[in-house]
Amino acid sequence: MQILYKSDPQRGALWQAWLAQHAPDIQLYLWPETGDPQKTEIVIAWQPPENMMATFPNLKLLMSVGAGADQFDLTTLPPGLPVVRMIEPGLTQGMVEYVTFAVLALHRDMPRYLQQQREARWQPHSVRPAATRRVGVMGLGELGQAALTQLVSLGFDCAGWSRTPRALNGVACFYGAEQRDAFLARSDILVCLLPLTPETHGLLNRDLFSQLPPGAALVQAGRGAQLHHEDLLAALDGGLLSAAVIDVTDPEPLPPSHRFWHHPAIWLTPHIASQTQTISAAAALLENLRRYQRGEPMTGLIDRARGY
Ligand code: NAP
Ligand code: GLV
Repeated sequence: MQILYKSDPQRGALWQAWLAQHAPDIQLYLWPETGDPQKTEIVIAWQPPENMMATFPNLKLLMSVGAGADQFDLTTLPPGLPVVRMIEPGLTQGMVEYVTFAVLALHRDMPRYLQQQREARWQPHSVRPAATRRVGVMGLGELGQAALTQLVSLGFDCAGWSRTPRALNGVACFYGAEQRDAFLARSDILVCLLPLTPETHGLLNRDLFSQLPPGAALVQAGRGAQLHHEDLLAALDGGLLSAAVIDVTDPEPLPPSHRFWHHPAIWLTPHIASQTQTISAAAALLENLRRYQRGEPMTGLIDRARGY
C-alpha cells in the first residue's frame, strides 16, 4: 500500500523508518517525493498538496496528522472521500496537561500573582477549595472527556457541553443551544475544546461572555476563529471576565502590535496545547491503516455533513 506524507519532515522520517520495521507492506513517501502518483492510495497531511485529486487520481483516503481536520477545505474534496483525523494517546495526554495547567493556574489566581510580582506587591488572596470552583468544558469529545476526567479527580465541580447528549461520570452534562446558557451560568472557568465548524465560528463572543458568572475566566484551546478578540478584550477590560489563557488565535501568529501580547490578564501560548507525538501516533496510525485495509470503521472518521 502506497501512502504520501506531507507535513513535518522529521516526524515523517521517523514514521517512515517505524513503518518499514513494523509494516513493511506499507510504503510511505515523504513529500515532495511521491513515488508513482497513480499508486498513491492515502495522503497523510496537515495541508494536502495542491490539485491533490488530479495528481493522485486513485486516492482512497485523506488523513490529518492533527486532531482537527478543519484545515482541509472539505468542499473541494469528492463527497465520497473518507477524511480521518488523528486520535492518539500522546496528543490526548498533552491536552489533559495543558487544560489542567490552565485551570489550576486560573483557580489559584496565578495571572494576578504574576502581575503582583511584577509590581513587587506581596498581597495574599483567599484560597478557594477546588470543590467550590465550577469548571465548564465545551466539547465532550476525545479531548474534552479526557480533560474532564482529570479535573474531576482534582475535585473541581465539573460540567460539560456538547452538541448531542453525553454522559460522563462526575460531570454535569449539558447539550445543544437550549442548554447552553444554563451550562455557561455555572462555569467559573470556561474551557473551549470545540472543533471549528460554521456553528462554532466566533462562538466565544460578547454574548457568550455575558452569560458567564461575573469574573469568570476562559481557557481557549480549540481553534483561533472561535474567539472574537475585541469582545474578549472588552470583557477583560470591563471586568466581566478576570483572565484568559489563550493557545489558539486567528491569525496565527498574532501581529506584534496585537493587544493580547501585553494584556496583563491574558496568558498566550503559540498553539502548543497539544501536539501529535511521533511514536505513540505511529502505532495509532498503523492500527487505523490496518482497519482501513480490513474494511473496518476507522477511528477519527470525520462526518463531512457535521464538519467534525
Ligand atoms: P471530537 O472528539 O470531535 O469532539 C468534539 C466535541 O465538540 C464533541 O463533544 C461535539 O459534540 C462537540 N461539538 C461540536 N460542535 C458542537 C456544537 N456546535 N455545539 C456543542 N458542542 C459541539 O474532537 P476532539 O478530539 O476532542 O478535539 C476537539 C478540538 O480540539 C479539535 O477539533 C481541535 O480544534 C482542538 N485541538 C486543539 C489543539 C491545540 O493544540 N490547541 C490540539 C488538538 C486539538 P458531540 O459529542 O455531540 O458530537
Ligand atoms: C492541533 O491543533 C491539532 O489539531 O492536532
